[in-house]
Amino acid sequence: MKKIGPPVDRVDGPLKVTGGARYAAEVPVARVAHAVLVLSTIARGRITGMDTGKAERAPGVLAVITHKNAMHLPPQPTRETRASQGDHVLQLLQDDHVLYNRQPIAIVVADTFERAQHAAHLVAVRYEAAPVDVDLLRTRTAARAPHPPYHGTVAQTLPVESRRGDVAAALAAAAVRVEEVYTIPAETHNPMEPHATIAVWHGPTHLTVYDSTQGVFEDQRKLAASLGLPRENVRVISHYIGGGFGTKGAVWSHVPLAAMAAQKVGRPVKLVLSRPQMFGPVGARPQIEQRVVIGAGRDGVLAAIRHEGRSSVSQFDQFCEHFTAPTRALYKCPNLDTTERVVSLDIATPCQMRAPGEVTGTFALESALDELAVKLAIDPLELRLRNYAETDPETGRPWSSKSLRQCYQTAAEKFGWSRKKPQPRSMVDGKLLVGWGMATATYPANVRPASAIATLFADGTALVRAGTQDIGTGTYTVMTQVAADALGLPVEKVRFELGDTDMPETPTSGGSCTAASVGSAVHQACLGAREKLARLGNGGGADPSVDEPFAAQLARHGMKRIEARYDAKQLETRDRYAMRAFGAQFVEVRVDPELGEVRVSRAVGAFAAGRILNAKTARSQLLGGMIWGISMALHENTVYDPKLGRIMNNDLSEYLVPVNLDIPAIDVLFVPEDDPYVNEIGVKGVGEIGITGMAAAVANAVYHATGRRIRDLPITLDKLL
Ligand code: MOS
Repeated sequence: MKKIGPPVDRVDGPLKVTGGARYAAEVPVARVAHAVLVLSTIARGRITGMDTGKAERAPGVLAVITHKNAMHLPPQPTRETRASQGDHVLQLLQDDHVLYNRQPIAIVVADTFERAQHAAHLVAVRYEAAPVDVDLLRTRTAARAPHPPYHGTVAQTLPVESRRGDVAAALAAAAVRVEEVYTIPAETHNPMEPHATIAVWHGPTHLTVYDSTQGVFEDQRKLAASLGLPRENVRVISHYIGGGFGTKGAVWSHVPLAAMAAQKVGRPVKLVLSRPQMFGPVGARPQIEQRVVIGAGRDGVLAAIRHEGRSSVSQFDQFCEHFTAPTRALYKCPNLDTTERVVSLDIATPCQMRAPGEVTGTFALESALDELAVKLAIDPLELRLRNYAETDPETGRPWSSKSLRQCYQTAAEKFGWSRKKPQPRSMVDGKLLVGWGMATATYPANVRPASAIATLFADGTALVRAGTQDIGTGTYTVMTQVAADALGLPVEKVRFELGDTDMPETPTSGGSCTAASVGSAVHQACLGAREKLARLGNGGGADPSVDEPFAAQLARHGMKRIEARYDAKQLETRDRYAMRAFGAQFVEVRVDPELGEVRVSRAVGAFAAGRILNAKTARSQLLGGMIWGISMALHENTVYDPKLGRIMNNDLSEYLVPVNLDIPAIDVLFVPEDDPYVNEIGVKGVGEIGITGMAAAVANAVYHATGRRIRDLPITLDKLL
């Protein structure tokens, strides 16, 4: 596998830096009209009147669509009838109800964007507003079990409870006990490219949509179902995506609304959400409260863990944050109880955000373990090694591969962990307090069915196609490498195309599954094409001569091309092995004791994730994850007005994300890992694991620096003073 691994530059890099890569809103479409959404200013109630006259008479306006004149749609799924994890309950102007702040309540279409935006401001709305309940930590609404399971497509849905052993008895008998509550606020996805859609009708029954989406097929299915069209009448194209992180994992209301608007005005319609509109109608990480109870012996060996908590959901839809998933898998512990509950609030429906469940649960568990280490005066890394899970503690299955020990060692060495002085406030740099913290990182190795077609041409080049997405992760590049490797061609001779429902079906790019799933299909399709050719060469004989260049073989047979398709399924080994990627993350902070200001001054992460397809793009994913983890620890917080239910910091000046000065030198280290069971190409995804341990590692470092344990993210100045 020579083409696999090296830090090949992005094959689409030149197009991206020269503006040649066309993102959804940039696709040239003749006669395109521009749409702007009008969003509700209340968070719960009813629309009692809408004055659209001024907007309709404004220059260039083609239509103002509200619940009064919107296309009447077939019955839509409800919380109880939704078909999949991505099958969100949408707000498509079918009634006068307002269920959350910034719900779409009208769409204005004009001949230019500026005119549409102007007219959108002229729509006057009267409401009957009802009291709201938007704060998980203050609500009196009882937590409840999530609605009956639905079948996952974006991320696998998991059981919301698990029991092993006898936790109550083990806790009662334990020599030491930690019991704490950890909270995480709503965080809002802000990919550089906001959601964007262009809808083009071809007659009344056929629709093409250019969309910024993590899943063209899920998009196609949901658009067809919501508009009442056969699935094959809808084509979704998504060639370049400026980040998704979960918010683009499934269709939100604006996508069918763009199609409805295009039908109304009889022209293609482009709809781009503004930055403020990213806060509200397109998902967010839920608000989460978790309680972790740990019982252990004086030697630090875990006797029992209880991990329970609740996350916020909307009043009308379903989402459950699986924050106990990492706790079920991380440590050897004979007694374990986990429970996930949800609380309905007057908010928009939350959804997956980078490493859903894994990062939120890891924050709680890895903070609590640090508290246990402090209590026992055992080094936090040593504590983790004493509880190392040699097999999957939940199922007892062997790991398909696990190199966490090597990750701990590699990262600790690079970081210089052995030089840590254990006492809080014992390390200083001038007047600044220095703190060191660490945490374990993990993410499941997801693989989902995917298909690909490989075509070899007589000129010695190859074209490989799969419908999948490149959400900024490098799919174009790594698939080109996988194909080049399987075909024995230089990377320059291979072209990989994606992002189109006319191509072979692939999963939504969520759950870090794309490299492993689509990569397996691409690899096998390419091998299939070579085999087909070889069989030709021998008149169907059994001794394929793979050494002859395929261009020559095709020429010899007077053929212009040869093609093979492969439909990759999950390997049967998935039932015999537990499959996860692991890592270790170490963080150094400097805290100003007078101001409470926290700066991360160093971070090291070591990861083992099977075969690394491209050292450069993989590093970029892990680095991005670690940066976001710092952001989660120190910055991000979606603030709701408790009375009005409005999100108050809906832009990037008030919703804080790190800038370059907030991010120190970060070391990303790979621990080599060979996994023969996980899939055909031995790959575990790296899109999400990088964020998972970081928030806990930062919080643990802050404790070490200051002696203050902050269990409520983000760790802001006020909490340290
Ligand atoms: Mo990722 S949050 O599974 O799109």
